[in-house]
Amino acid sequence: MNPPKSTNPPNSMNPAQKHEPRPKSMSAGQARARACANIAMAKYWGKSDADLNLPAVPSLSVTLEPLSTETSVVFDPSADADVFSLDGQTAPPAERARVVAVLDRVRHQAGIGLRARVESVNHFPTGAGLASSASGFAALSAAATAAAGLSLSAAALSALARSASASAARSVFGGFVKLPAGRPGQGDLAAQPLLPASHWDLSVVVAITARGRKAIGSRTAMNLSRDTSRYYPAWVEGAEASCKRVAEALAARDFRALAAAVEESSLAMHALAMTSSPPVLYWQPGSVAALHAVRRLRDAGVPVCATMDAGPHVKCICERDARDRVRRALSETPGVHETLVAVPGPGVRVTLGAP
Ligand code: DP6
Repeated sequence: MNPPKSTNPPNSMNPAQKHEPRPKSMSAGQARARACANIAMAKYWGKSDADLNLPAVPSLSVTLEPLSTETSVVFDPSADADVFSLDGQTAPPAERARVVAVLDRVRHQAGIGLRARVESVNHFPTGAGLASSASGFAALSAAATAAAGLSLSAAALSALARSASASAARSVFGGFVKLPAGRPGQGDLAAQPLLPASHWDLSVVVAITARGRKAIGSRTAMNLSRDTSRYYPAWVEGAEASCKRVAEALAARDFRALAAAVEESSLAMHALAMTSSPPVLYWQPGSVAALHAVRRLRDAGVPVCATMDAGPHVKCICERDARDRVRRALSETPGVHETLVAVPGPGVRVTLGAP
């Protein structure tokens, strides 16, 4: 067990801190923001309230760079409808509707009625279980509030992002982040920064095991699990303890304990998906091969563990020194098309410049 390394404040916005004032060179009505993806070490799966988008369980994540989304928002006096493009393409109606819901909240808070042009670019594969909704809605929330002239605390920004996508609440902060479970009537739920990115020199090697978009999104699948998996009540009951195990292992920089807690949470989440009706199976042959490769490495003494989200890719968390070995082993694993490397990164940033 290692001693805690640093007592520095998290590498992210302080919840009480306000956004920087609008830079002089940026016109009123437009802003751009960049947010990084995150992966949950203790998973969120299931809502206590679907309308308010409140998670039924706590989750704990690490924000990852360079996996990021950049989003620009322009409130345009000449536009008569909101327009949303993702990676240069007009987004499908369901995705547009979720963006419009965020814009509506922002317009309401700012007391404006203008329609917006939103352009978003993902710097990693979209919709393939790499948490693009997390970085996407965190970047959108930051850009839209800044463009509307609002100056929200990081906690208020996180609560806004959470209303669109719960994992997005976590991407507002850098480093290691917790999103508590929520209950209706308990106030506006936001994520909390736990430890700075510098706390532990970890890397994440993502094994890409399929191309294209996933078959079923996390929202639909987790609602299905809540409604149909007989294991759902046990999942909710054990989630607080599971999240605590991850938090304690992180605080102590105890990799062995972290690996056990991370894999238990991920496999339990996938057990819920698989026992839903109809069953949801995100795993591809390459996913299973990668999970076994990680186990072999760990049995050989390499500090690495695996976690999976609502998609087939395997995210392998390792200590920095093990990264090259992990990457080599995964690259040689059948069914792994490519690998991406990420490290703990910063929270959302409103960046200069109109599009
Ligand atoms: C498997 O945040 O995408 O990635 O709140 O409905 O938008 P909504 O769900 P979303 O779910 C993420 C689920 C997960 C686990 C996690 O990130 O904690």
